[in-house]
Amino acid sequence: MIELAVYKEIDEVMEKYREEKTPLLSILQEIQKKWRYLPGDVLEYVSQKLDIPSSTVWGVATFYSFLETKPVGEYVVRVCRSAPCHVNGSLDVLKTLQKELGVKEGETSRDGKFTLETTSCLGVCGVAPAMMVNDVTYGNLSEDRIREILALYR
Ligand code: FES
Repeated sequence: MIELAVYKEIDEVMEKYREEKTPLLSILQEIQKKWRYLPGDVLEYVSQKLDIPSSTVWGVATFYSFLETKPVGEYVVRVCRSAPCHVNGSLDVLKTLQKELGVKEGETSRDGKFTLETTSCLGVCGVAPAMMVNDVTYGNLSEDRIREILALYR
């Protein structure tokens, strides 16, 4: 159950996008920035307030790989698995990350710091294989480079 103060904050976010024709995605992104994921109660509340069917709100929240409907770690590592990255070793990238973080795909590390996910093309195929850590994209990944990158966040 969400606290009253949280509803107030959500109202403020929605107020900010009141003038937009299709504010749903912007609202969900901003809410996620605050709580790192979109709890079910929050999605239902947004649905009611915007008078949009709950199925539409859930559909958007689950369609985009950058939106989370479950709690995630402080840093979400997303490995690209689309064809150009696959051909250039994205499976090795995933294996290295699993080993380094001690988690499988879809899991969060025990310390709550890292969540490991896969995603489709990140738009940087020229530097495949690629991954993102939260909003930052990294390419030309090798085992050593992955370790260097993770060290920045540990
Ligand atoms: S296929 Fe991986 S970034 Fe495009």
